[in-house]
Amino acid sequence: MYNFDLLPKKLQEQIIEQARSQYSDTLVDHWLHPRHLGRLEDPDSHARQSGSCGDAMEIFIRAKNDKITEASFWTDGCITTIASGSMAVEMATGKSVENASTISQADILEGLGGLPEESQHCALLAANTLRVAIGQL
Ligand code: FES
Repeated sequence: MYNFDLLPKKLQEQIIEQARSQYSDTLVDHWLHPRHLGRLEDPDSHARQSGSCGDAMEIFIRAKNDKITEASFWTDGCITTIASGSMAVEMATGKSVENASTISQADILEGLGGLPEESQHCALLAANTLRVAIGQL
């Protein structure tokens, strides 16, 4: 994942402003402050999937008594991929394994306030990676 913080301040502001004109406040918040970003040590389950564009996502899960107690993600993807991964693991955390396994692309899109057509595969990548990770518990 590129390090946004290393970009010059002015450029950061321009990118954020452009994102705000294209995406919902929720999406921009999940991009700028991704929930549960990073790799978990010794997870109970881990999945890595690639999207149609070649971007990759990984999801790490810890579960206890059929409940997802902790989940995190990592991606080398763009703004909307980061926000989709963040939304996916936030939605899954605290849910029963059964309920979390039904989280879909549509749920992630709804949670993010929608995505432009060309970015909707980012939510699919997050949903698919989550489903594979849960399937390996
Ligand atoms: S997963 Fe390909 S641009 Fe987001």
